[in-house]
Amino acid sequence: MSVMATTEDISDTLADSASENSEGLLTAGLLGWYAVCSSSSLKKEEIYNLSMYNEPIILYRDNKGRARCIKDLCPHRGSSFMGGSIQDGELVCPYHGGRFSSEGECTNLDRLTCQHIIDSNYNNYAKRIHLSQYPCVERDGYIYIYYNGKAKDELGEWNSEDKLVDHIPDTFGFKIDEYKCEEVTVDFKCDWARIIENHLDILHIFWIHGDTIPDSNVNRKTITSFDQKITKDFRHIESKYMHKSDSKDEFITLKFIPPGRVLIYKGSPETARYIQVLDHIPLAQNRARVIVRHYRKFLTNEFLAKLVMFKPLQHRIFYRIFSEDYLVLKTQTYNQQMGYVEKDNVKLLGEDKMIQYFWDWHRKATVNDSPWSLHPTTSTTNTVHMDFPMPYPPENPKLAKDNEKSILINSIIRIIPIPLLILLIVL
Ligand code: FES
Ligand SMILES: [Fe+2]
Repeated sequence: MSVMATTEDISDTLADSASENSEGLLTAGLLGWYAVCSSSSLKKEEIYNLSMYNEPIILYRDNKGRARCIKDLCPHRGSSFMGGSIQDGELVCPYHGGRFSSEGECTNLDRLTCQHIIDSNYNNYAKRIHLSQYPCVERDGYIYIYYNGKAKDELGEWNSEDKLVDHIPDTFGFKIDEYKCEEVTVDFKCDWARIIENHLDILHIFWIHGDTIPDSNVNRKTITSFDQKITKDFRHIESKYMHKSDSKDEFITLKFIPPGRVLIYKGSPETARYIQVLDHIPLAQNRARVIVRHYRKFLTNEFLAKLVMFKPLQHRIFYRIFSEDYLVLKTQTYNQQMGYVEKDNVKLLGEDKMIQYFWDWHRKATVNDSPWSLHPTTSTTNTVHMDFPMPYPPENPKLAKDNEKSILINSIIRIIPIPLLILLIVL
């Protein structure tokens, strides 16, 4: 019973090539396109708060329904838009009611400035007050933002900058419209990169999640031997795991698409019946969000899926898996920050090659992009907006409990008619 990996296919020279290879292998860095929210979570007339690398930002839909990403800073007196509102597709500040068009211009200066009383320099002020934005695109049911830590007053015609849009990591490797999808969002108080590492870690799936994942091939007792083959190109690292007994029988394929996407295919990407797409969002130091999508080719009939309560049952599995990982991720983050997770203290296995490549990339990308130095906080920074409860599980266990309750109620609703029917027939 062992998990074995062969790594002959891996050229050792590749280990040092991530993020800066002159031949262009895996050139993406930590700054770039992130899927930060699903389309369905971004409701009309609502503000969606998040942050990127410590910088608070908001998302909303403008008067044309287009997604917008704004630095969470009112240009009048620096208030957050938290507690503000969207009125007719325009963003309204909670402090003095400053109202902004989707181009970022203030549209109610006459009221904001009390012009007739105090502002003798109205025109100049109008030119200066402006929202700062990040490029934002909606695609495949995701809201993507281009995050480089430098929000701009004027985005101009950025949509036509094909080069930028071309880098959106939408290379799923399968046709998403052929699949049904369930989705959950999760919040963790831990290091962002540690979660990605967790999702690239094939070994832990058998052990920590062995009793939770409903797959007879995935549990502590039936760990399957497999071979491993890793490939890299400009845009991703991919690892295929094949059964030792049959090298053509692909067990799992993992893909990492920088900066934040991991894909897990059950089988080969083209034919997999089950695929997970995980998008990792670095909210702040010690805070990260993950959007998890489960694409499936089975149980595609919506009525049937509702009848067997596929969605809440699927969510229950997700919630359990997150809780199983969470304790490890939190404590691992501490160990990392204390400097304990150094080379001499931890030794990766051959099976951890994918993880080694990820950290190679991450280390170099961190040096090149230094994303945490763009908006650094110190121990005296009042990060009060970060102290608001994180809305998703496992940080918010209420969601998991509500889900359990709905499973129970729906099960009773489904079961009760059967004895009633029998009673009616008998009587
Ligand atoms: S701080 Fe926003 S309107 Fe004054
Ligand atoms: Fe896990």
